[in-house]
Amino acid sequence: MCANSQMISNNNIVDLRNEIVGIDQQFPLLDGSYLPYVSLDNAASTPSFRYVQEKVNQAMELYSSVHRGSGYKSLISTYLYDEARRVVLDFVGGNADHDVVIFSKNTSEAINKLAALFPFQPGDMVLTTTMEHHSNDLPWRARAHVLYTKINPDGTLDMDDYQAKLEQYKSQIKLVTVTGASNVSGFMPPIHEMAEMAHRQNALFLADCAQLIPHRKVDMGTVDSPGRLDFVTFSGHKVYAPYGAGGLIGPKAFFETGEPDYRGGGTIEIVTLDEVTWAEPPDRDEVGSPNVIGAVAIAATIKQLSAVGMDVIAAHEAELTAYALKKFNAIQGLKIYGIQDPSRTSDRVGVIPLDVEGIHHGLVAAVLSFEGAIGVRNGCFCAHPYILELLHVSHETYMRFRNRVQHGDRSLLPGLVRVSFGCYNNFEDIDRAVEMFERIIRHDYKGDYVIEERTGSFFPRGFELPSVKSYFEF
Ligand code: ALA
Repeated sequence: MCANSQMISNNNIVDLRNEIVGIDQQFPLLDGSYLPYVSLDNAASTPSFRYVQEKVNQAMELYSSVHRGSGYKSLISTYLYDEARRVVLDFVGGNADHDVVIFSKNTSEAINKLAALFPFQPGDMVLTTTMEHHSNDLPWRARAHVLYTKINPDGTLDMDDYQAKLEQYKSQIKLVTVTGASNVSGFMPPIHEMAEMAHRQNALFLADCAQLIPHRKVDMGTVDSPGRLDFVTFSGHKVYAPYGAGGLIGPKAFFETGEPDYRGGGTIEIVTLDEVTWAEPPDRDEVGSPNVIGAVAIAATIKQLSAVGMDVIAAHEAELTAYALKKFNAIQGLKIYGIQDPSRTSDRVGVIPLDVEGIHHGLVAAVLSFEGAIGVRNGCFCAHPYILELLHVSHETYMRFRNRVQHGDRSLLPGLVRVSFGCYNNFEDIDRAVEMFERIIRHDYKGDYVIEERTGSFFPRGFELPSVKSYFEF
């Protein structure tokens, strides 16, 4: 097996950009010119590294069933899959004697699995926060009584409220679950401190690391450390491995008890018509043929990120974030939500929510795309409670929006524009966004944009997607 692409190492953040698949893709603007695409939407999904793509292609040559075959390809695929687990466990500071990695589709599936397996009794509570992604909120609502730690006006967490809730409900709280970094504001709650506080009340602690893992070193901590993260979840597609896998890491002993949430192939040791002996974790929690390629991609991306250095990536992204905040703060008519201070990069990752005064968030996002070839996300980012608080949306206003949405009209939904960085973004990317924001504020854009009520998205009148219509034709 020989790789054509290079793994980038030696702290080389500049070369890493050139290793991004699709970095040179150009898109047409409304004036007929073309620009290379700038993705400032890394909080939603990240592109792949060429090294990861190459490793995936190599694995495809060797691909066969895992844990099921005696052929060479099966043996090699099984090795790669199991080795990927080891790489993931090391990367998050897990302990091979204590913890297990369960591969999932993504973070949402991983959290749903944990919620389904958690041995809740009637009256048990889960303590989370108002800033969570819906995937770290809705699965718990279905299983237990959920308490929400409040947020401060700057979008950070109200730690006094957190402490008060822990002290009020004490051992009724069985689990505390908190994002490692907000997908809306980038704020990083102090997860180890929060875990230590949770443990004092005998609650377990889950860190949803979907937004943290691409930006900072995640370390579960030693098994006996008070601030240990008991469970960690993450998605491959947010960490430069968009091949359909993610993971749930937690104590093996936890997963040994009870019954699997999904039952079938791979989850058992032996079955008769009368009884079932379940397999050991992680197998009992990975029903059916697993996503070997997704796991290989995750291991490859971890190797790539580690070779560059998570500290180097964090420092680069901190510089980008500080630079962007300074520039954005200086633009009249642009309002930043969450932490605005460029010097507070140790409290946040490079996710910046903002809006342009008097212009719909969807229109801003559309002009960035169709006249600047810049990709961002707008709306509520799967975190409605947090956005409604950040925007101070009253109950009456919310009810109006809800009524419209229930009638299929999403055009009035409140929201923000989100700029989010990956390790490969550079200062020129930010300059392009700044130029576009200034143009939008001056109303210096060419398109005649119309809103599609069904989706709430804006498009230039008569817009047609370029070039992909024959994608699947031979
Ligand atoms: N969770 C992803 C986001 O924040 C999809 O955009």
